[in-house]
Amino acid sequence: MGNEMRIVTKDSKDKYIFTDVVEIEGQETTILDITCLDAIRKIVADNDVTAIINCAAWTNVDGAEDPEKYALVEKLNATAPENLAIAMKEINGLLVHISTDYVFGGEPYNTPCKEDQKGTPTGVYGLTKLHGEHNIQKTGVEYLIFRTAWLYSEFGKNFVKTMMNLTATKPQLKVVFDQVGTPTYAYDLAAAIFDIIENRKFEGNTGVYHYSNEGVTSWYDFTKMIAEISGNKNCDIQPCHSDEFPSPVKRPAFSVLDKTKVKETFGVKIPYWTDSLKKCINNLMKA
Ligand SMILES: NC(=O)c1ccc[n+]([C@@H]2O[C@H](COP(=O)([O-])OP(=O)(O)OC[C@H]3O[C@@H](n4cnc5c(N)ncnc54)[C@H](OP(=O)(O)O)[C@@H]3O)[C@@H](O)[C@H]2O)c1
Repeated sequence: MGNEMRIVTKDSKDKYIFTDVVEIEGQETTILDITCLDAIRKIVADNDVTAIINCAAWTNVDGAEDPEKYALVEKLNATAPENLAIAMKEINGLLVHISTDYVFGGEPYNTPCKEDQKGTPTGVYGLTKLHGEHNIQKTGVEYLIFRTAWLYSEFGKNFVKTMMNLTATKPQLKVVFDQVGTPTYAYDLAAAIFDIIENRKFEGNTGVYHYSNEGVTSWYDFTKMIAEISGNKNCDIQPCHSDEFPSPVKRPAFSVLDKTKVKETFGVKIPYWTDSLKKCINNLMKA
């Protein structure tokens, strides 16, 4: 997500500073550990920062279930966003924060989730992300929280890149069809956030918003589409149930996000999921 923010902001009239806990090869990066409030305050003061877009998190959903990791996951997903919110509140700035569809899923339902629906996370990742949202709200900062889902891009490890590789190399593959949601091309979300900031659309409109691509699918159908677009015709892809893949965490069976609010408030045009998937795969195949 952070890499896509770099791309969409490159011609901005505003100055963007990109931070990470480690140096990124070939990319100008300011080192910042967002679990340290004083380090955030220093970068904000030294650079006259007026807004922060937080793309950092603990994102290993299975790994978050390790009881020994709980304190660290909570620190990164709940305390760190609070630190960023405090730093922005102190200078009357804006915090943009990315959250997740995994704040839902604990109760069975089959209608798209709205922003004001009660959070019912099924695991530690979703629970700590929900704590992060609450911590931001408690500070009284001006904030935009975007809950998104099934993120992929040309960068890092993600489902699209994994399935492009597996459907090219394996004769057979089983993928779960009983988890339903919507993929999101991180570039699309980054472009929407950039538009909202660059054109000051956030003024008077702070709050929680849902953003994924348009449409609904299962991981099985997502994989079939990845294989088709990539031209991987020789892999026999079969649907299976989630219990065939034992996991330390129960994932949401239905986490489709209702995006009416983001579209009506900001006039955002959201691409259909297969259109964006084609763009990303084309870029990956050109690289
Ligand atoms: N991926 C998904 O499917 C998905 C779905 C819904 C919502 N989201 C949310 O979307 C956001 C972006 O996700 P993503 O997939 O782009 O995540 P990602 O690829 O895992 O990137 C997270 C980044 O945070 C950095 N980070 C870790 N600890 C840090 C610290 N203490 N201080 C500063 N940075 C730190 C990581 O650095 P290292 O790599 O060096 O650890 C990494 O660069 C997250 O908030 C996530 O919860 C993701």
